[in-house]
Amino acid sequence: MTAHLLRDDDLGVDAQRDVLELALALKAGSTTPRALAGQAVAVVFDKASTRTRVSFSVGIHELGGYPLVLDSAGTQAGRGESVEDTVRVLERNVAAIVWRTYSQDALRRAAAVSAVPVVNALTDEFHPCQVLADLQTIAEHRGGLAPEGPALAGRSLAYVGDGANNMAHSYLLGGATAGLDVRVAAPADYAPDPDVVARAREIAADTGARVLVTTDPHEAVDGVTAVATDTWVSMGQEDEAAERAAPFVPYRVDEALMARGDDAIFLHCLPVYRGMEATADVVDGPRSVIWDEAENRRHAQKAVLLHLVEERL
Ligand code: CP
Ligand code: NVA
Repeated sequence: MTAHLLRDDDLGVDAQRDVLELALALKAGSTTPRALAGQAVAVVFDKASTRTRVSFSVGIHELGGYPLVLDSAGTQAGRGESVEDTVRVLERNVAAIVWRTYSQDALRRAAAVSAVPVVNALTDEFHPCQVLADLQTIAEHRGGLAPEGPALAGRSLAYVGDGANNMAHSYLLGGATAGLDVRVAAPADYAPDPDVVARAREIAADTGARVLVTTDPHEAVDGVTAVATDTWVSMGQEDEAAERAAPFVPYRVDEALMARGDDAIFLHCLPVYRGMEATADVVDGPRSVIWDEAENRRHAQKAVLLHLVEERL
C-alpha cells in the first residue's frame, strides 16, 4: 500500500525519529542520496507560498529529481477539473505529489486514488512538513534527538495564538508523537479541534508526551524549551481579519512572555507579522531560531520524500 503524509500522525514514533535523523544527516552532508534521479515530483499550490515552494523545489533538485511546480489556477483544476482526475494524470508522470490546498478532505480524496505518495504541504487543518522542520530545529538547539523511542522526550513546546489553525493541530499530533510536553494557549473561541486534541492525548498515552490546552499563555509558557506562534489570520481567513485582531492581543509573544520559558527558543513558521502575534524584539532577538527553522524545511522534506518513496519500493 502506498504510504502518504496527510497529517502528522501518519508517521509513528519510529518513522518520525527516522525522518528527523535523516533530515539532520542530510543537513550535515553526511549522506547525499540521489534517489529521485530521472523522476519528477509534482508540487501543487492552491494557496500562496514562499518557503514551501522554494524548499521543495530545491530539495527535489538536490535529490536528483525534477520539481514540477504547478499553481492550480493555471491548470484545469482551476477551471473545475476534479481532484481525482487531476491526480490520475499526475501519478502517471511523477514519483510523488506534494499538495498545498484548503480542505483536508480534498487531500484524502487525492491519496485515495494515487498510486504514488501524497504529501500535505499545508491544508486548513494540518501543516506536517512545517512541524517536522520545527522538531528538527528543537533537536538542533536543545539537546539533539533521543537515540530511541520518541524523538524529543523530555523537551516541551508552548504554542500561543490561534489554537484552531493548521499549526496548532500539527504541533499537537507531531509533538505528542515526539514525546514533547505540548501546550496550546488560545482564546476559548479559537481552541483546537476536540478530535485532534483527543487523538494527541491518545498518542501521548503511548509516548509519554503531555498535552495541555489552556486559555492562559503564562501557564503554557512556564518552564518550556520552545515557544511558537503563528499568524492570527491564516490563508483563506482574510475576510475575518478585523474580528480576529482583538481576541488575540493577550496572546502576543513578547519578551516578558519569553522570559517565563526555560531559556526557550522562539519558533515561527513564517510569514510573521511583527507587532501582531510577536513583537519585533522577539522575532529578531537572540532566542529566535526562525531562519534555521525555515532552512530545515528543505532538509525535513527531503527526508520525508526519501522515506515515502522507499516505503513504496
Ligand atoms: N511556513 C510556510 O509554509 O511558508 P510558505 O507559506 O511561505 O510556504
Ligand atoms: N497558519 C498559516 C500558516 C502559513 C504557513 C496559514 O495557514 O496561513
